[in-house]
Formats: sequence, structure tokens, C-alpha cells
Amino acid sequence: MDIGALNAIARKMVTRGKGILAADESSGTIKKRFDKIGVESTETNRRDYRELLFRSREGMKYISGVILYDETIRQKAKDGTPLVKLIEEAGAVPGIKVDTGAKPLALSGGETITEGLDGLRERFVEYHKLGARFAKWRATYDPTGGRPSYNCINANAQALARYAALAQENGIVPIVEPEVLMDGDNDIEACERVTEWVLKETFQQLYYANVAMEGMVLKPNMVISGMKCARQAGVEEVADRTVAVLKRCVPAAVPGIAFLSGGQSDEAATAHLNAMNARHPNLPWALTFSYGRALQAAPQKAWSGKSENVPAAQAAFAHRAHMNGLATTGQWKPDLEKKAA
Ligand code: 13P
Repeated sequence: MDIGALNAIARKMVTRGKGILAADESSGTIKKRFDKIGVESTETNRRDYRELLFRSREGMKYISGVILYDETIRQKAKDGTPLVKLIEEAGAVPGIKVDTGAKPLALSGGETITEGLDGLRERFVEYHKLGARFAKWRATYDPTGGRPSYNCINANAQALARYAALAQENGIVPIVEPEVLMDGDNDIEACERVTEWVLKETFQQLYYANVAMEGMVLKPNMVISGMKCARQAGVEEVADRTVAVLKRCVPAAVPGIAFLSGGQSDEAATAHLNAMNARHPNLPWALTFSYGRALQAAPQKAWSGKSENVPAAQAAFAHRAHMNGLATTGQWKPDLEKKAA
């Protein structure tokens, strides 16, 4: 394993002022997004939509890496250029989602285990040839109703660790994504408790699996009130609790932490990241974004499947990318949103 090479990729992924575009929706998930805007989920529509993002010169200024789905990493733009090449030309690192989804964990009351380890070494070899230099694996945990169980936390941590070790063996930086879900009725204290436990166990298993901290990126949830909870914590409380948990759990050798948005509104996702960087300027790791919905909801709506809307969609994407870019250095202000509206 070449730790120096992995570290150089990881550091590029968490460059200040930039973040990661999670465009790795599976065919099922992108269909749900397209249904909302009345667009049929065909291979060509999926290609056209993603091509418009990767060709957004202004938006890609703030993007350090793009997570792709298996279909997309093999696709070519309308003019025949591989989409991976468009991403590289924009100065971003191409990445690939390699898990095959969260499946029911046996005998664990509806909890899930993320699958995809079988044949993963061979898949990494192929993805590396296709241009991927980092990968993503997402595990999810429900913090409501007495969950998660230790069985769920431990099984997912072991899978994350085995995935991360295989990625590094093949010259690919693993994004390790343990996601405590945000859509329940739990309070922020429950989110904090579960996030801390999940991160402690995840880093323990990464250690047992010999994963180099210098060559990975963590993609966690923020510590936040469940969306159905009566008390919604404010921006500063979310920022301070999130940073406190990360300090307890994440080794300083990890180059960066790139949050998922998890269903937060576009502006909340930006405000929370901004507050963390503004209030906690001297952290050992870069704090950035790896957003799916919070970067793409606006451009999807603006596009709505019509080619004449491509410039408006690219502008909407560029705006969100710019706002989140500013949040990585604590320089975002709510006023900047109003001017654009
Ligand atoms: P969201 O930002 O929409 O949560 O997506 C990020 C992601 O990659 C989830 O795995």
C-alpha cells in the first residue's frame, strides 16, 4: 500500500473551498428524483442530466471529487467524451459507489447491513482502470425506538473496514460513510449518543483491518434533531455538538471529513457546515461537504428534463456549489442566498 499516494488523493478531495458532489444515485434512487420533476428515467436522460452537471464550468470550480454510480462511470457524453474525462478536465477526482445497498440484517428487527463485499477486489481493479481514485460505502443506522443494536453497529463497522482495506490495497481512497439517519422523531441527544458509538466502533474495526487513517475520508451525518422531533436544535448547537463528537472519535491523521446532507434543506446543510468552520477554525481535519440532495435538488428542478433549461440548471448547481464552497471556510452568509433568489 502506497500511503503517500493515497494521502495525496484524500487531501485533494478535501481541498479548502471545495467539496464532493455525490452523483452516485442508484437506478432506483435517481428514478425517484426524476419522478419528482416529471422526467422519465432512461439511460439517455440520466446521462444528459449528469453531463450538464459535469460540464458546469462555474459549478465545478467548487467540486473536488464526484461520486459516480456503476452505469455513469462507463457512460460517454453526447459528443463521445467519457464522463470520467469531463470530471478530470474540470479538476475533480472521479469516484465510485461500490456498496450494493442496505439489506435486512438477519434476526435484528428490521435493521440493515450494507452488502457488496463479494468480488469487490476484482471490481476495484476494474474501477481503477476506468479512472476511479476513490470509492464510497454507506451504512445506515436508525436511532429511534431503542435502536441501533450493537449487532447492527458491529456488523456494519466490520463491512466498512473490509471495504476500506480492499480499496486501499487497490490504490483507491475509501470514503467511509456511517450514516445515522435524520428522518425520525429522535432528539439531538439520541443522535449524538448513537453517532459517537457508531464512530467509535467504526474506527476500532478500521484499526483491526489495518486501514491507513492518512488515506481515507470520513463521511458522517451531522449531529442533528430528527426531522420529526418537536425540538429542533439551532445551527450553532448542531455545529458544536457535531464537532465535539468528531473530536472524541476521529483520529487527527484522517485528512478530512465530508458530511452527507441526509435530507436537510439546501440552506440548512450549508449553514451547519459554515457554522462548524466559522466556530471551530483550528481542527485537525478539513470539514467539507459530500452532498447529494443538497447540491442537486435545485438544478434538477430547474432542468426538468428540457434541454433549453440546461443553462438555468447549471446556474442553480453553481450557486449551491459556491455557497457550500464558502461554508468550508466559514465565509458563507445568509444574505448571499437572498441576492441570488
Ligand atoms: P445526501 O447528501 O443526499 O444525503 O447524499 C449523500 C450520499 O452520498 C448518501 O450516501
